[in-house]
Amino acid sequence: MATNTQVLFKDFPEGWVEEKHMEVVKTPFNPETVAVGDDQILVKVKFLSLDPYMRGRMTKAKSYVASFEIGKPLQAGGIGEVHRVGKSVDSVKVGDIVTGMVEWAEWSVIPAAGVKKLQEHKDVPLSYNLGVLGMPGLTAYGGLISIGEPKEGETVYVSGAAGAVGLIVGQVAKNKGCRVVGSAGSDEKVKVLLDLGFDAAFNYKTVKSYDAALAEHCPKGIDVYFDNVGGEMLDAALNHMNVHGRIPVCGAISQYNATEPYAIKNLSMHLIKKRLRVQGLLVSDYYVNKELMAGFTKDVVSYVQQGKIKYFEHIVEGVENAPRAFIGMMKGDNTGKQIIKV
Ligand SMILES: NC(=O)c1ccc[n+]([C@@H]2O[C@H](COP(=O)([O-])OP(=O)(O)OC[C@H]3O[C@@H](n4cnc5c(N)ncnc54)[C@H](OP(=O)(O)O)[C@@H]3O)[C@@H](O)[C@H]2O)c1
Repeated sequence: MATNTQVLFKDFPEGWVEEKHMEVVKTPFNPETVAVGDDQILVKVKFLSLDPYMRGRMTKAKSYVASFEIGKPLQAGGIGEVHRVGKSVDSVKVGDIVTGMVEWAEWSVIPAAGVKKLQEHKDVPLSYNLGVLGMPGLTAYGGLISIGEPKEGETVYVSGAAGAVGLIVGQVAKNKGCRVVGSAGSDEKVKVLLDLGFDAAFNYKTVKSYDAALAEHCPKGIDVYFDNVGGEMLDAALNHMNVHGRIPVCGAISQYNATEPYAIKNLSMHLIKKRLRVQGLLVSDYYVNKELMAGFTKDVVSYVQQGKIKYFEHIVEGVENAPRAFIGMMKGDNTGKQIIKV
């Protein structure tokens, strides 16, 4: 009997998410007979994207995306092949490769309206559509260009630099002629950044202090701080911002599993004295911005196709390993995009 392996959400974590908050189940499943509604499709999932924002969906707090439901499969951006379509679906057909929100599962029945047919780019792995060519790539590009407004010769500092978003921020900034500095959580990741052409990089876990590291690596101050981590690093970066500096606030991963939020100490006086622009961003705003999307296609998608932007993936095989991979990603196991190959 054929089966479907799924990962269910089991409980809201207090502090660090652990494997016990999720449950892997294998249920009998027949793809030819499972109910598919008129406006739904059945997808054989190929790749899942694991992303830090999912930790936010594991809380009861209201946010821009609903909490996961206890007892139901977790959800993720994914890529899959359409196996069956409902009666009223004409946007995709059997055999199409699509991307959209799917379940952490081998098979997923989802609304057809939520998926987009993927064009396969020659010599570019399909899974890049969940990374550099997809949501994290657009996050990096949109935040850097529309809020960071990097100019040639300026210093751009990016935290979480060896991750899915950070790798792109650094390379796009480099292509714009900036001096690029990155921080990451291991010496191996620092080497990757330097090999990619970052002008400087440091391991934030082993430096004497964030302040000392930023003083050393950003001797002319920071014009753009692309913040992926929040907390203490944001506090330190504020000390080193130049007048009229810009801070795209993309993420705060240092805070997602914290039970006490870090209180920023250095905000008001730096904002005033240096006339800083600090702005949060949400990638969903960028999908509807035609000008930005055109720039993304030109500066990122075509550069990847031409091999001018390099990208890395951390691929774990098997949906049953997704809980461990998700926790590992939150702790820094990944260099580049965390992907599950289902
Ligand atoms: N606003 C939006 O629309 C949007 C969209 C996508 C992503 N984001 C945010 O962007 C950030 C990066 O996302 P991503 O997908 O590129 O993830 P990622 O960087 O590929 O993976 C997460 C990384 O965070 C780092 N990390 C974990 N704890 C940390 C801490 N206490 N201090 C510093 N770094 C820590 C780890 O790397 P190390 O080894 O370096 O510690 C880990 O590899 C996240 O905060 C995410 O929530 C926002």
